[in-house]
Amino acid sequence: MRKKIVAGNWKMNKNLAETKALLSELKTKLTGSTDAEIIVAPTFTNLHSAIEVLEDSAITVAAQNMHQAKNGAFTGEISADMLKSIEVKTVILGHSERRAYFGETDKLLAEKVNAALEHNMTVIFCFGEELQDRKSNNHFSVVENQLKNGLFHISSGDWKNVILAYEPVWAIGTGETASPEQAQEMHAFIRKTISEAYDQQIADEVSILYGGSVKPNNAEEIFAKSDVDGGLIGGAALDTESFAAIVEAI
Ligand code: 13P
Repeated sequence: MRKKIVAGNWKMNKNLAETKALLSELKTKLTGSTDAEIIVAPTFTNLHSAIEVLEDSAITVAAQNMHQAKNGAFTGEISADMLKSIEVKTVILGHSERRAYFGETDKLLAEKVNAALEHNMTVIFCFGEELQDRKSNNHFSVVENQLKNGLFHISSGDWKNVILAYEPVWAIGTGETASPEQAQEMHAFIRKTISEAYDQQIADEVSILYGGSVKPNNAEEIFAKSDVDGGLIGGAALDTESFAAIVEAI
């Protein structure tokens, strides 16, 4: 049985005090409310405090990015070892904002994936097409290429440490969400692509999250789709009530 997961990607939001306050509220609000795995991804400077605040909670903490090298002269960067040393065991890689604003390519992402897996971290691997891809009916091939070029070099055994997040770029932060049918159609395609490249068991066991304007009022119908195993939530993860409502929808 694959896991149900709701993850909050906080992006560049919340200072230290705000992070602690939101996490304390979430900890109280979400205790015992769901069987789903709950993950929060605050910014780098607040990860250590987040781990401390959530020490006695089932909510786990992820980083939003990391560098592919072990260590060295990479001013401003953060390594897998640094994350592991503060007990951060999960990392989001390949978010469309990293791809678009920081030039992250499939090739670079493949290196980041390797670094994370070598450190026994769980990778939340993000991908998704842009509006023009969908309009020109290229969305399936764009997604397939992102998966093949960034992820499909990993071994069968590494899939247990991978969570996928399909995030159509046109739905991120726009208030326009993919319809439940569009999400289901793409998630089923992703599973089929994995089963062809690997095998059916790996395809069946990997959790595939949907991301892009998931809100309390649309979460339930999206999560109800058979190949949607949860969500990667941006804006609505920054507020206790709305994140809790989304968690309850799973
Ligand atoms: P929104 O939920 O704000 O659209 O963001 C989705 C996202 O990018 C999560 O990684």
